[in-house]
Amino acid sequence: MTDEDTRVDRYAVMGYPIKHSRSPLIHRLFALQTNQRMQYEMLQVAPQHLTEAVSQFGRTGGKGANITVPHKESVLDLCDSLSARASVAGAVNTLSFIDGKIVGDNTDGVGLLIDLKDNLHASLRDARILILGAGGATRGIVEPLLDAKPRSLLIANRTIQRANDIVARLPKNRTIAACAFDAVPDDVPFDLVINATSAGLKGEAPPYPACAVSRDTLCYDLSYGLKVTPFCEWALAAGAARSVMGWGMLVEQAAESFEIWRGVRPDTAPVLKQIKINA
Ligand code: ATR
Repeated sequence: MTDEDTRVDRYAVMGYPIKHSRSPLIHRLFALQTNQRMQYEMLQVAPQHLTEAVSQFGRTGGKGANITVPHKESVLDLCDSLSARASVAGAVNTLSFIDGKIVGDNTDGVGLLIDLKDNLHASLRDARILILGAGGATRGIVEPLLDAKPRSLLIANRTIQRANDIVARLPKNRTIAACAFDAVPDDVPFDLVINATSAGLKGEAPPYPACAVSRDTLCYDLSYGLKVTPFCEWALAAGAARSVMGWGMLVEQAAESFEIWRGVRPDTAPVLKQIKINA
C-alpha cells in the first residue's frame, strides 16, 4: 500500500466555544454513508488565533473547514476568493483549501431553504415572510429567501438602523422592507416567521410581535437546543401552526459543505434523525 492509499483527508470545524458542536458527528455520519475516507476534527480557536489556525490547517494539508460563531465574518479577510453567496452574506461558514489558496463559501442560506422546502414542505412562493433580527444570521438567509419569490419579506429588528442597512444593501426591490419590532403590521398574519436574533442564546426574551402569528404560521428558530428554545415556546403560545428549531438547517448546511468538498451529496434524513436522538 502506498502513502497515497493510507492518507486520510482532513477537515475541521473552528469556533469559540466549540465543544457543543454537532458538526463532527454529522460529517462522520455523512462520510460513513458515502464511503469517504476523511477525518473531521473540532478546533477551539480563540478570535486572536484565527489567522494562525486557518493558515496552519491549510499548510499542514487540511482540505476544508467549517467556520462557526464568532468567526464567520472575520474569516472573510483570510480568503483568497469568495463565492457570490458568501460575499452577499458578508459571512463565510465553509473554507476549501485548494492549491495553496483559501476559498470561502456560505452554505447557511441554502441549508435553511432546503430544510424549509424539502423537509418541512413550506411553500415560499408568494408567502409573507417576517425575519426577526438583523445580524449576520439574517444577512446569510435574506438573498436565498428572496430567490424563492415570496410576496413580501419584512425584517424587524430592535435596532431599526441595522434592518434598514440590510435592505439598503440589496438591489432595489419592492418585496423587502424593514421596521422595528413594535411596527410589525397586524393586519394579515405571516406565513413564515424566522427568528434570527441571538436573544434566546443569551436567555433574553424580546417582545416578539404576537400579531405576526396565526394558526397558519410556520415559526422557525435558526437556533436549536436540547430544550425547546424560548422563541419556539413563545410561537406555540402565540398560536402558531408549527414551531421548529434549526436542526434541519444545521444538517442541510453541512450536507452542502460536504458536497463542495467531496463532490457527493449525502442523504440528510437519517442523519437528522440520528443527531436529534443523540442531542
Ligand atoms: P449574528 O451575527 O449571530 O446574527 P449579531 O450580529 O450580534 O449576531 O446579531 C444578533 C441579532 O439579535 C441582532 O438583530 C440583535 O438586535 P440588535 O441589532 O438590536 O442588537 C438581536 N438581539 C440580540 N438580543 C436581543 C434582544 N434581547 N432583543 C431583541 N433583539 C436581540
